[in-house]
Amino acid sequence: MVQISDAEYKVLLAIQSHGGEARESELSITGLSEREIASAISWLEVKGLIDVEKKETKIYTLSEEGRRYLKEGLPELVLYRKLEEMKEITLDEIRNLMPESYRIALAQLAKFGITPKNGKLTFKDPGISEILEARQRFLSNLDPDDKEMIDHFRHRSGIIEEKTKTERIVKLRDTAVEAISGFDQEGTIGTLDPSIISSGNWRNKKFRKYDLNSPAKQIKGAIKHPMTYLIEEIRQIFLNMGFTEMSGQYIESTLWDMDALFIPQDHPARDMQDTFYVDSPGFVIDNDQISKKIKRIHETGFDGYTGWGYRWSAEESRRLVLRTHTTVNTARYLYQNNEPPQAIFSIEKVFRHESVDWKHLAEFYQIEGAVYSKEVSVSTLKWILRDFYSKLGFKEIKLVPSYYPYTEPSLDVIVKINGREVELGGSGLFRPEVLKILGLRAPVMAWGMGLERLAMIFYGLTDVRDLYNTDFDFLSSFRFDTDKILKDNTAKTG
Ligand code: PHE
Repeated sequence: MVQISDAEYKVLLAIQSHGGEARESELSITGLSEREIASAISWLEVKGLIDVEKKETKIYTLSEEGRRYLKEGLPELVLYRKLEEMKEITLDEIRNLMPESYRIALAQLAKFGITPKNGKLTFKDPGISEILEARQRFLSNLDPDDKEMIDHFRHRSGIIEEKTKTERIVKLRDTAVEAISGFDQEGTIGTLDPSIISSGNWRNKKFRKYDLNSPAKQIKGAIKHPMTYLIEEIRQIFLNMGFTEMSGQYIESTLWDMDALFIPQDHPARDMQDTFYVDSPGFVIDNDQISKKIKRIHETGFDGYTGWGYRWSAEESRRLVLRTHTTVNTARYLYQNNEPPQAIFSIEKVFRHESVDWKHLAEFYQIEGAVYSKEVSVSTLKWILRDFYSKLGFKEIKLVPSYYPYTEPSLDVIVKINGREVELGGSGLFRPEVLKILGLRAPVMAWGMGLERLAMIFYGLTDVRDLYNTDFDFLSSFRFDTDKILKDNTAKTG
């Protein structure tokens, strides 16, 4: 008679208690892990005690949007209930009520003939309450047998996700019954422990053989953090464009972070409200030579440029800050490498005294690029930005006048995402005062943008904090697909 282990015996009993046939996932057995059960099943098959059949089943999970609807209600249901209560509701009210999802709600209700007339919806009862409730219920049970609902939600992108899982169905053979009754509960050693050895009990027992072919649980290999992934993509874009990477430091003096960029010492951005000052007496970042020049240019200017006309303070310039932008990297780099041409970039962290919410972080990455060359002009700026942004996937950009203390002209970059315009960074040509301070002999174009903002667009997030969520499953669910995202995300980007 075939010999079976303790675990195999337990699995046979469990299958028997399921009427002789069970899905592997149904077998929960005290004292046995999923892996031990899986291994026992494989053995039992090899020993000819059970039949194993593989069956594919679909498993449904909610996407982030789906989870939100589960919590807050499906847009169409929310709107329908509201309409039922108010009888009449204007489009403006609807937009206010559900700014993120009113489009979806209206589109879904329209399918039942509830459409706006003269700017408002009027309640009628086409008997859809039950259907809408059923949809809502489906979000909580995700019943894989509910073909109608699955079909419905499959056609609404981004609410449910479908995965195929292969499961084993196990069936007892006649031989199993014999094996169960013949099993000597004390007979075979499946798990060796110290007491079996010290008591000498092992001497008159048999050992179960190792199964080197038993299926092991699948483990996920390491994957890159979504931010790391994006940083590497962007680094590659810059490198392919022939740019050199520069890097700076978190702590800077205001001299470099601001003064060198001709930001006056009374500029509002220097306010404690916006900037983290570092309290660290004795730690000095300074440069006498440049501070003399900075003083002169801030106070009286040069060659017809009038300066700011205030008294520049050396003491103020020595205050330390957590760098507020990576344009300070550009300033330092070009000061040290003042031979044109140079094309440089960095993707590094900056710090601002912001209260953290769905759209803001106090610590975030900036992408910075700059070109120093006698060929630089407004038109080169335009084509370099077009080239860069189109490599990110934004085929259309618009430049609109803006203001930064260190550039003239200053231009903000607007990109189009599904017909909507989103501001995605600043740019400009360094002012003559900045060139003079840094000792540069040719024009400089520079641009900068927040990386998390871009990540939200690429990953379809509505809350920037999600990027720093530490839940592994959540992080590994990120997919980077520029083309798809730029097409699909109208409702998501804010
Ligand atoms: N430093 C600017 C910011 O922090 C962006 C910028 C970079 C603007 C370079 C002009 C030139 O938003």
